[in-house]
Amino acid sequence: MRALILSGGAGTRLRPFTYTGAKQLVPVANKPILFYVIENIVAAGISEIGIVIAPETGDEVKSRVGDGSRWNVNIEYFLQEKPLGLAHAVMVARDYLIDGPFLMYLGDNLIGSRITKEVEDFKDNQELSASIFLKPVSNPRAFGVAVTDESGRVIDLIEKPEKPPSNLALVGIYLFRPMIFEAISNIKPSRRGELEITDAISWLIKNGYKVQSHVVESWWLDTGKKDDLLLANDIVMDEWLQTDIRGSVDSGSRITGRVVVGENAKIEESIVRGPAVIGEGAHLFKAIIGPFTAIGAGVRIERSTVEHCVIMEDCVIQDVPRLEHSVLGRRVYVRPAPRNQESLCLMVGDDCVVEIGRK
Ligand code: TTP
Repeated sequence: MRALILSGGAGTRLRPFTYTGAKQLVPVANKPILFYVIENIVAAGISEIGIVIAPETGDEVKSRVGDGSRWNVNIEYFLQEKPLGLAHAVMVARDYLIDGPFLMYLGDNLIGSRITKEVEDFKDNQELSASIFLKPVSNPRAFGVAVTDESGRVIDLIEKPEKPPSNLALVGIYLFRPMIFEAISNIKPSRRGELEITDAISWLIKNGYKVQSHVVESWWLDTGKKDDLLLANDIVMDEWLQTDIRGSVDSGSRITGRVVVGENAKIEESIVRGPAVIGEGAHLFKAIIGPFTAIGAGVRIERSTVEHCVIMEDCVIQDVPRLEHSVLGRRVYVRPAPRNQESLCLMVGDDCVVEIGRK
């Protein structure tokens, strides 16, 4: 069985990070989301993986992921010229997938469980033309929503319904047999101009094909926005982080809880309270790092307190009394204003958010 990961798209909701990089490469506990996706697919026993990429971010995805040898699998790439929808992305890889059942996985979705059993069941059950993963949510209006019968068979699917008929949202993981290509060739672009995979699955249902569902018991995170990203970091660090100290920690420093310190990182006269990840080559000096913080590779933090933050690669934070609940993109500098301590002195790009503490 093969798998297709969708790693194209525009990523408008995760701006500004997606101006300069693919959203699937945004780190969660210092590891790109896409790597968790690949690991879940590999754990399900699949070793042939196609990745759909966009012209703007495809090269970055290719260079980070490579040919799959790091996971002992084969990875091929398919260029989708424009983000014309999930069903369009599947069509781009048609020749790669047409010969048998396949798994489709959105490259920005994280779930807390393996999918091995569902993949095996689908392979064995020839009468299923598709199988989808669902999760109860409190705001079904924001998602594709499914109606199922008592056995889990899908009866109806509605994209972002105004009056949701259920609270079961579609998680971005799907299993298909090749008739999905016939379905896609029979649907028209939606109002937002995209070929929707939900329309293709609805076509299957209307034409008498059997579509099954599985409810995901563990957590599911769609890392679309800043708060989702912080939450994804919290959950992944809480559940999966194991202490692993490779860099150097001097005798004036204290590390408590589960903490990962990458190769060549240097921790001097600092306190790190886990769960926390300190990336390769990062340097902490007289810093206090609070729980649920991910510090990227090459970051320098001096005389500052940082708590519940995602600090991406090569940032510098100096003399900041307290930075919390923040996400910093790569190479961001945070330090006191050089002259007037009362003034704010900013150089920020498009779509950034600066929240200032009130006295
Ligand atoms: P979405 O989050 O639905 O779309 P998007 O990436 O355009 O994001 P935003 O709404 O923030 O602008 O996409 C889900 C996943 O599918 C994501 O990993 C990107 C990928 N994708 C494609 O590969 N091709 C496409 O045409 C679309 C729409 C998404």
